[in-house]
Amino acid sequence: MAETSVKVDNVYMMFNLSKNKQTSLKQYFIDMVKGNLFFDEFWALENVSFELKKGESIGLVGVNGSGKSTLLRLIAGIMEPTHGTIYTKGTIAPLIALGGGFEPTLSARENIYLNGAMHGHSTNFMKKRFDDIITFAELEEFVDVPVKNFSSGMLARLGFAIATSVHADIVIADEVLSVGDARFRKKCETRISSLLKEGTTILYVSHNINSVIKTCQKALWLDKGRVIQNGNVREVCIAYKRYIEEQNRMAKEVQALKDEKA
Ligand SMILES: Nc1ncnc2c1ncn2[C@@H]1O[C@H](COP(=O)(O)OP(=O)(O)O)[C@@H](O)[C@H]1O
Ligand SMILES: [Mg+2]
Repeated sequence: MAETSVKVDNVYMMFNLSKNKQTSLKQYFIDMVKGNLFFDEFWALENVSFELKKGESIGLVGVNGSGKSTLLRLIAGIMEPTHGTIYTKGTIAPLIALGGGFEPTLSARENIYLNGAMHGHSTNFMKKRFDDIITFAELEEFVDVPVKNFSSGMLARLGFAIATSVHADIVIADEVLSVGDARFRKKCETRISSLLKEGTTILYVSHNINSVIKTCQKALWLDKGRVIQNGNVREVCIAYKRYIEEQNRMAKEVQALKDEKA
């Protein structure tokens, strides 16, 4: 039996939306009388549990705002859950959103060493991987350009190349391939497959459901922060696709009714 790599146990995440809002004492009482006081507590995740063994891959699916990125940030240790526990074993290479973790004024070269250092790797360790990172990211001509001049696609390629070169035990890829073209996405999928063979655990979010099916063994479907389904990637993704199609069909019907009235 392979060892546990990630264990999310009964996790809840609450954001307090009122924290930064300036309200008067009068407004406070108005909200209290109306029973609006507690609406500022927003639960982005409720009762989420799942487990991954070493070398397993899971795709998180769900519409925008369903809590995928929040869950990945919790696993990466960027935030603490409000309730519940998260266990991870080994090093984590988080690739969260686009270009997160880059220093805009530094060049690609400097950012590679900086990112390496932030993951606890020596200059020597990164030197050995430097050429591979630049070649994979297809940035040979831009090695010494400050990354603030990079397109979102270039940043995504660099981020992906670094995160998959530092030999982390867990790789987290949140929508990183959405900006690349189909050819680069294929290259990334190939690299993810080889990481899986080496025993890396992967958490993957992509708008491209077929890419999730190709890349992952398992899938977790989130909706409004709750787990709708958790299991085999095909089963979960087919159910999710059906749900999306049904939503689209209903939206079209509503629109048709509106058009009729107009
Ligand atoms: N720091 C935050 N403060 C308040 N609300 C947040 C914060 N981060 C995320 N949210 C909210 O939590 C919900 C889930 O967001 P997110 O995890 O980004 O979803 P997804 O990645 O599935 O699109 C959204 O409604 C979002 O607005
Ligand atoms: Mg997201």
